[in-house]
Amino acid sequence: MGSYPAAAFALLLSATLSIGCHGGKILVYPIDGSHWLNMKILVEVLHSQGHQITVLRSSTSWYVSEFSPHYTSITIAQEQSQIIESQDFMTSFLKRSIEIRRSKGSLWAFVEFYRNIFNMTEENHKVVAKLVTSIFENKTLIKELKETGYDLCLTDPVFPGGVLLAHYLNLPMVFNVRWLFNGEAHFAIAPSPLSYVPQTFTEFSDKMDFFQRVENGADLWLMRIDFTVEFPRPTMPNVVYIGGFQGKPSNPLPSDLEEFMQSSGEHGVIIMTLGTLLGDLGPETSEIIASAFASLPQKVVWRHIGKRPNTLGNNTKLVEWLPQNDILGHPKTKVFIMHGGTNGIYEAIYHGVPILGIPLIFDQYDNMMRPEGPRGG
Ligand SMILES: *[C@@H]1O[C@H](CO)[C@@H](O)[C@H](O)[C@H]1NC(C)=O
Ligand SMILES: *[C@@H]1O[C@H](CO)[C@@H](O)[C@H](O)[C@H]1NC(C)=O
Ligand SMILES: *[C@@H]1O[C@H](CO)[C@@H](O)[C@H](O)[C@H]1NC(C)=O
Repeated sequence: MGSYPAAAFALLLSATLSIGCHGGKILVYPIDGSHWLNMKILVEVLHSQGHQITVLRSSTSWYVSEFSPHYTSITIAQEQSQIIESQDFMTSFLKRSIEIRRSKGSLWAFVEFYRNIFNMTEENHKVVAKLVTSIFENKTLIKELKETGYDLCLTDPVFPGGVLLAHYLNLPMVFNVRWLFNGEAHFAIAPSPLSYVPQTFTEFSDKMDFFQRVENGADLWLMRIDFTVEFPRPTMPNVVYIGGFQGKPSNPLPSDLEEFMQSSGEHGVIIMTLGTLLGDLGPETSEIIASAFASLPQKVVWRHIGKRPNTLGNNTKLVEWLPQNDILGHPKTKVFIMHGGTNGIYEAIYHGVPILGIPLIFDQYDNMMRPEGPRGG
């Protein structure tokens, strides 16, 4: 029974670890907008397990609130909010994206697509760089961060701020991740098996013992996907798939919304939202959508922030904000018209609501390919 000592050792190891287990100090460097919505869920769970959480936020943040029962925050004074949080910028970015897609296939469209993306990227990186500079140039803040003695940094690596700071503070990093700026997050890790590819600065060779391998790959990637809607692909042992972790039963709706839902009778209700960033599609597109909705027997709840369309039917209710999970769980909800954001897709799957996808920008086309799949369902 050659495996006996190994099994005993594993038992001993896990016992030691659980005795030594205690709440840690976690520094969270989030990305604002929809990325924060699911980071916040992780923060709440970590807090409920007795960990102390500190969240770094910009004073211009839309979504990351300064005060919370689940974390303390450090606010970095900034003048400008992230460009993707500017409704005007996003509406004009979207308009250009749609024009470009209409002339798909031409060389012009190819060049313009990247010009538009690079423009948005450059504008956004300017803001990210300012935030990072404010952090690193504040000696008091850096000293405080060092002296607090955090155990690890939880960050979303789509923009590099959190990675830079954690690296500087020498903290282990856990990534809550879907995309890196250069694409699918797996690309950064999959071709480098940790069992024989040593990371830089570890000074290990390609013959590593068990503990060296653990040290080599100690960083953990919490990947916000699930293989129920993801294409098969090779992966790595330090990846934990948490797609759909935000799924939870719905709560009752506010009374005016509930009344509206009930008034739909047998036809039920269509829900439309294009996510945290796109509240306004511009007047032309909004008129087309409003008049299409007006001709339907269903009632419609539409998250729309711009001017009220003239052709809006009396079956359509405009709202500035939606309790998305609660309304998806409502029995009158028949269809979810959405942009293809990861959060929304997984919430709709959780509640079993059919999706009608209108992918517009970023990863949204790629996300929508997944539930539909190559089967064309
Ligand atoms: C991005 O595009 C806008 C609008 O066309 C322009 O005002 C801005 O200067 C551009 N930014 C960069 C970095 O090219
Ligand atoms: C630097 O950080 C400290 C501690 O967080 C803060 O009180 C101070 O206002 C910051 N200074 C600047 C110039 O932002
Ligand atoms: C809503 O509009 C339709 C079509 O214009 C009309 O027949 C109906 O009476 C209106 N309902 C209400 C409650 O105003």
